Amino acid sequence: MAYASVCKHRNLGEGEMVPFTVEGQEIILVWPDGGELKAFTGVCPHDNGLLKFGGFNGRLLTCTLHNWVFDGRNGEGLSPTGCALEEYPLRIEEGWVQVDLPATVAE
Ligand code: FES
Repeated sequence: MAYASVCKHRNLGEGEMVPFTVEGQEIILVWPDGGELKAFTGVCPHDNGLLKFGGFNGRLLTCTLHNWVFDGRNGEGLSPTGCALEEYPLRIEEGWVQVDLPATVAE
């Protein structure tokens, strides 16, 4: 695994969810109101819906395919429970948001 630069931190705002495709992988950066910037998979664990089409109200992230709801602070499933978004390590280096993505398996 290696950190990949995603975007400049100054381009993000608290209360926002921003999707990116990085090295062919769909991710979302989520900055909850009053919380810390997080990086999650951009693919819903239910049925692989793309979360970039979902909604974020500053705390709750909703997948529009079947309305599963996740906590933007930690990716935990709230409706239903017992699931979670995969979270990736995130760091800020010289103003860049960098995310440590899992290695992809060549097909
Ligand atoms: S794919 Fe996300 S709720 Fe079904």
